[in-house]
Amino acid sequence: MAKKVKQRWIVPDGIVPTEMDKRIMEFEARGKIVPTRNLIKTPEQIEGIRKAGVLNTAVLDKVAEKIKAGMSTLDIDKIVYDYTTSHGGIPAPLNYEGFPCSCCTSVNDVVCHGVPADWEILEEGDIINVDCTTIVDGYYADASRMFVIGKTEPSWQRLVDVAWECLKIGEQVCGTPYVFVGDMGNAIAKHAHKNHCTIVRDLCGHGIGLEFHEKPDVEHYGHKGTGMLLVPGMTFTIEPMVNMGHWDVCMDDEDETGWVVLTDDGLPSAQWEHTYLMTENGVEIISH
Ligand code: MF3
Ligand code: CO
Ligand code: CO
Repeated sequence: MAKKVKQRWIVPDGIVPTEMDKRIMEFEARGKIVPTRNLIKTPEQIEGIRKAGVLNTAVLDKVAEKIKAGMSTLDIDKIVYDYTTSHGGIPAPLNYEGFPCSCCTSVNDVVCHGVPADWEILEEGDIINVDCTTIVDGYYADASRMFVIGKTEPSWQRLVDVAWECLKIGEQVCGTPYVFVGDMGNAIAKHAHKNHCTIVRDLCGHGIGLEFHEKPDVEHYGHKGTGMLLVPGMTFTIEPMVNMGHWDVCMDDEDETGWVVLTDDGLPSAQWEHTYLMTENGVEIISH
């Protein structure tokens, strides 16, 4: 008896399949991972996610304006909380699975999910990722940027730049729809490796919009043609974490919240993130 595979892409009874339905079903018949219909946002949902993106960008712009040496990461958290809530948004990280603050502040060898603290003072030469996610009317947008405090070592500056280039390469691969997450991850990791950097494997990007973290997992490494097919109407993040040394990470055992992720070798890590909408013409950034 033929193995029964549960179909993911369902065309409701009585509905004539569109060109998009047909294309997705062809990929599915070839054994590829296709999205489920609930991952395709409606025009109304997309408008909502865009609004969240506009406020999220304004929050990061406010951080960019204020961030400087001598400030604590908790000062940054306060800026994020005050700006978000006074403009009609909710900072998604706050109380999310026990996360105690409104944004993540990841300094130097902190890979991601750094918890803002009053004792953590920014110094000349530090590199910091500030990661903000904003909820507006129930819709989510997520983005992060690197900030260099004053001037840093050339090799650290290069790491920050390579991480940025990795994000841009991810966007380029998604310049048309019907590409796979693995196509993008493959290109991103190649660029990192060419520049003697590595890609973190234990953490990934994600679908986003109606919830903070949705399907698919967006891995920033892997093989072409693997992972989920990206089709118009999907909203997701790309957020490669790029390490100067080995890709291995570990938890910070001095951190009581259980969130903070460090590089295992203590070398620095950098990351940039945007929220994207896949369209008929490729991805559009909806967090700027
Ligand atoms: N913003 C992070 C991401 O890019 C997630 C942070 S979860 C938190 O997915 F709770 F730490 F905020
Ligand atoms: Co984020
Ligand atoms: Co994210």
